[in-house]
Amino acid sequence: MKIKRVELLNYRNYELAGVDFDSGITLISGANGQGKTNLVESVVVAATTKSPKTSSSNELIKDGKNLASVKILVERDFGDIEISYNIPSKGDKEFFINGNKVAKLSEVFGNLVTVYFSPDDLKIVSASPAERRDFMDTDISQLSGSYYNLLQRYNKILMQRNKLLKFERNRELLNAQIGVWDQQLAQVASLIIKTRKSFIEKIKEPAKSALKFISSQKDELEIEYVGARGTTAEEIKEELLKSLKYNLERDLELGYTTVGPHRDDVYIGLNGKDARSFASQGQQRSIVLALKFAELEIFDKELHEPPVLVLDDVFSELDTTRQRRLYEKMSTYQTIITGTSFKFKPRGGYDIIKIKDGRVINKYHK
Ligand SMILES: Nc1ncnc2c1ncn2[C@@H]1O[C@H](COP(=O)(O)OP(=O)(O)OP(=O)(O)O)[C@@H](O)[C@H]1O
Ligand SMILES: [Mg+2]
Repeated sequence: MKIKRVELLNYRNYELAGVDFDSGITLISGANGQGKTNLVESVVVAATTKSPKTSSSNELIKDGKNLASVKILVERDFGDIEISYNIPSKGDKEFFINGNKVAKLSEVFGNLVTVYFSPDDLKIVSASPAERRDFMDTDISQLSGSYYNLLQRYNKILMQRNKLLKFERNRELLNAQIGVWDQQLAQVASLIIKTRKSFIEKIKEPAKSALKFISSQKDELEIEYVGARGTTAEEIKEELLKSLKYNLERDLELGYTTVGPHRDDVYIGLNGKDARSFASQGQQRSIVLALKFAELEIFDKELHEPPVLVLDDVFSELDTTRQRRLYEKMSTYQTIITGTSFKFKPRGGYDIIKIKDGRVINKYHK
């Protein structure tokens, strides 16, 4: 698939802008704070329904305005799709596919599929398990809107169970109810964990070989899902039911549920050690890129169409060999890269778009 055009109205520091894209590599260049990240962020929102930078939609609306609006034209094998969304200062974001308002956010996924990298993504390696869960959940959701629905159902049930743990002071009443919630929770949780595990299984080998490629065979990656044991949904469900029961006293003391997919993690190892504390900045960046390239491959296979690669500020901290190798890896995808300066340029042809103060000031092909 291919992004053909992006139109922004009152989005971040853009008042009114239209940007046309070609296939191949587009370099978006400009000084700090001019709107490069804002432009690619608007694309990611169309693909995933949320900003990778903020959970507050209001930040996306240009200061002093009360409605932001984004329109993206995507070329697919079966025809073009227009994805648009409005962000009102009061109320929720509204999404439209070919002009028709979607009833559920999950319907947005799959129309435009992106693999997005930003420097913030180093968190996937270095920060808390929540970041790694979010990485899996966002990516799996892009392939499956029903997985996104599953997550939402899980969170609702979890909230109910936590409420019970916190507020039901009568132990008999609690005992009478908790089993029902455990059953429901474990049912949905087992489907989530099973899907995540198979995602990790799929991503494992391609990520390993991508890292070898980027690091010129130096770095060896290991990834493993950390959560309830079992392969089938049934096995996982049984495991979860056992640990929910086993941890009930602790959960009651704390007032929330301490086991389940909302607490799981992904172990990331580099050359036999925990990458979280062991990998250097550049190595962490390379690991995240390897994960993203693995994702690219998986999406490509499952969609039967290449997704769009969006790389925000990818080159800082990478040595020149790693930068060159990255360009080689991009060559088969429509790729949008932002940067203040591009010391190394791609070998084949590419477009450059210059951004200044929320405006496209120049576009040319090289
Ligand atoms: N809601 C908003 N209204 C107006 N301006 C905004 C809004 N949100 C962000 N900005 C402005 O957008 C600018 C940042 O844009 P962006 O993050 O896209 O910069 P950038 O070109 O990627 O810079 P860098 O090279 O430093 O990454 C900042 O100057 C910020 O003040
Ligand atoms: Mg930026």
